[in-house]
Amino acid sequence: MLNNDANFCGTVISHVMMPYHANPAGNVNGGVIMQLIDDAAFVIATRFARSNVVTASIDRIDFHRPVHVGDLITLRGCLNMTHRSSMEIGVRVEGEDMKSGEVRHIASAYLTFVALGTNGKPIPIPEYTPTDKDARRRNIEALKRREQRQEQLQRK
Ligand SMILES: CC(C)(COP(=O)(O)OP(=O)(O)OC[C@H]1O[C@@H](n2cnc3c(N)ncnc32)[C@H](O)[C@@H]1OP(=O)(O)O)[C@@H](O)C(=O)NCCC(=O)NCCS
Repeated sequence: MLNNDANFCGTVISHVMMPYHANPAGNVNGGVIMQLIDDAAFVIATRFARSNVVTASIDRIDFHRPVHVGDLITLRGCLNMTHRSSMEIGVRVEGEDMKSGEVRHIASAYLTFVALGTNGKPIPIPEYTPTDKDARRRNIEALKRREQRQEQLQRK
């Protein structure tokens, strides 16, 4: 992770979009961006938990703007919250037209990762304590989202 700090925030991935990332319309496939989002969150989760981790869920993803071949995609993520074995990571995706310098917000997503032991079962992770105002705000919002997810899971 580049620019990482005590709040486990930073730039995880920068990637130039190539023709093989595009659909026939010439825009980058949403699935490519989703893979990169999962990869970015995976890096943050693994570095925090220092164990195997799996994606338990990904909240809704909206694609606000298209990504074009030749754009530089940058993914920044933050660890927002930990519980017993799970953690929420927020990822923001930006696309840069490197010729004009225009930077666009492409998508954001919240992912829950679970740390697994060598037996494949969830294991406890360290408790994350946010250290500044923004991180505390993200932490409070993530706790509310966790409650909503729990309610949705119980309804299933
Ligand atoms: C995620 C997984 C490990 C949970 O295992 P489980 O036996 O249901 O474990 P538990 O019920 O004890 O839950 C463990 C933690 O996962 C969380 N969790 C489980 N399902 C979740 C979901 N759908 N969304 C968010 N968190 C979830 C629980 O809240 C709990 O968190 P906590 O320990 O911090 O309180 C299990 O469902 C799994 O392995 N899923 C497949 C993951 C995978 O392979 N992902 C890659 C894509 S295929």
